[in-house]
Amino acid sequence: MKRGLFITFEGADGCGKTTQLKLLAEDLMMRGYDVVITREPGAKGLGEKIREILLNYDGDVSDRCESFLFLADRAQHIDMIVNPAVETGKIVLCDRHTDSSVAYQGYGRGLPVERIKMLNELAVNGRHPDLTIVFDIDVETSMSRVGDEKDRLESAGMEFFNRVRNGYLEIAKQEPQRVKVLNAAKSIDEIQKDVKKLVENLLLI
Ligand code: TYD
Repeated sequence: MKRGLFITFEGADGCGKTTQLKLLAEDLMMRGYDVVITREPGAKGLGEKIREILLNYDGDVSDRCESFLFLADRAQHIDMIVNPAVETGKIVLCDRHTDSSVAYQGYGRGLPVERIKMLNELAVNGRHPDLTIVFDIDVETSMSRVGDEKDRLESAGMEFFNRVRNGYLEIAKQEPQRVKVLNAAKSIDEIQKDVKKLVENLLLI
């Protein structure tokens, strides 16, 4: 059986990661790999209900409550979707994961980063990505891509998203083996080539 892989796609809203995830998935599937596309928050089932609250609840949400909802979704997602797929040799491409909590709830909302990391460890129970790709882009460009119809998190403002961006860059500095940063201001084709290069290295191992 082929070795399973877990690859996560990260970056601020509007960075283009979802487009790149789909392009990579198509390429890998054409080459015969067994690929699972998934996301946080809210891949399936219970997760979808948690996602609905996180993105659309219109009352006040405390920062800690928000963090725990993302973490609850993550624990369910790891147990029900990611682990079964990786353990049976599939390549799991996941749109957002632990680094989103560190970047958004930690650096963005200002909760203690080390504590978020600890809670992430509880949620993932030993499963860590083989590769994380951060799509880095300036906040003006990413916000203009999101447009005017923003969900609860996308409405957090420029300063918030600057902190999120810097958070991702800090994570990459701390874990250069796992986390690779790509310039997401390039064209879709150019970024796709950069993504493929990173993943190719992993497929050779
Ligand atoms: P989504 O519509 O999936 O956004 P995107 O297409 O940009 O991934 O919404 C997910 C939102 O939740 C996004 O604004 C990032 C945020 N988020 C956190 O704040 N913390 C987390 O741990 C996760 C997984 C996502």
